[in-house]
Amino acid sequence: MVERVLITGGAGFIGSALGEHLKASGKEVWVLDDLSFGTRALAPVPDERFLRIDIRNRAAVQRTIAMAAPQQVLHLAAIHFIPYCNAHPVEAADININGTINVLDACATAGSVNQVFVASTAAVYPIAEGAVNEEHPTGPLDIYGITKLAAERIASEFCLRTGIPTIIGRFFNAFGPNETNPHLIPEIQRQVRAGRRVLSLGNLEPKRDFIHTSDMARAMGALLDGGFSGCEVFNIGRGIEYSVLEVVQAFERVLGEPLSIEVDEARVRKVERMHLLADVGKLKRRTGWEPRWSIDEGVASLLTEPLLEWKGAHA
Ligand SMILES: NC(=O)c1ccc[n+]([C@@H]2O[C@H](COP(=O)([O-])OP(=O)(O)OC[C@H]3O[C@@H](n4cnc5c(N)ncnc54)[C@H](O)[C@@H]3O)[C@@H](O)[C@H]2O)c1
Repeated sequence: MVERVLITGGAGFIGSALGEHLKASGKEVWVLDDLSFGTRALAPVPDERFLRIDIRNRAAVQRTIAMAAPQQVLHLAAIHFIPYCNAHPVEAADININGTINVLDACATAGSVNQVFVASTAAVYPIAEGAVNEEHPTGPLDIYGITKLAAERIASEFCLRTGIPTIIGRFFNAFGPNETNPHLIPEIQRQVRAGRRVLSLGNLEPKRDFIHTSDMARAMGALLDGGFSGCEVFNIGRGIEYSVLEVVQAFERVLGEPLSIEVDEARVRKVERMHLLADVGKLKRRTGWEPRWSIDEGVASLLTEPLLEWKGAHA
């Protein structure tokens, strides 16, 4: 029997790459998304499998997940652009915490769901030097990380209560096609593609672990196939960190042209961690997954792929 999977947030940046991957691996993909930041065309499903629902609407979420009757649910719908969450803390908490409760309660009562994946984030970790593994104490620095840590706890309680195997994936910094939020790499991509060779950027020193969305999607697919029971947490990152300057150097290599940088004070974040690096040993040991995309290959594809219009609050 073909496995049916439902992806919340499947019209977004990571969810769309995940949907494509799961579809290619033979699953029947359904998407639940309110299109607040996502785009219908990115969800790789026919209209009858696209469910335009706000996860804050508890009754609609219950009804819709029961109707779709998926075996696996991957919960990615959230708001996560940190400046937006800081400016809208109540909305961030409502979507990321209450929305997660609604989705997981609907999974508990649907009767069909036998596995759940919940997207978390590296932002649940405190400031740390060196690579962090899943045993590292948590200590989010911002409202976004706080809401996602709460979602992790809700997922763990859901697993205890229902016995449904639950995987929590702590995503590090995604990059790839179809970015929906004005993060660093799409910002550089857009400036370069607009012809700028003097880039206007914020903090230059922080280092981040950038992982291509295609590698993330394969990691999630491998986790679903891993046969895990109980509640398990996995970092999903590349295991290499790059500073902003090093990302700009990747663009220079791919373009074959020099770039220079002006610091734009308006873009400088007041609270900023200097490092965020994943220890992905557990993911590799337990699934055999290995990343495939280098930063240069990913950047090269960003120079030609179609650019999305920013949506929602970023438009
Ligand atoms: N992009 C990253 O680098 C990154 C890093 C760490 C964690 N994450 C997590 O990964 C997940 C996906 O992020 P993304 O980068 O693809 O972002 P995204 O904004 O592209 O995707 C989120 C999707 O959720 C949908 N959504 C938002 N609010 C909703 C609501 N109330 N009801 C229904 N749908 C709603 C949006 O329309 C969008 O399609 C999120 O849970 C995010 O917290 C992302």
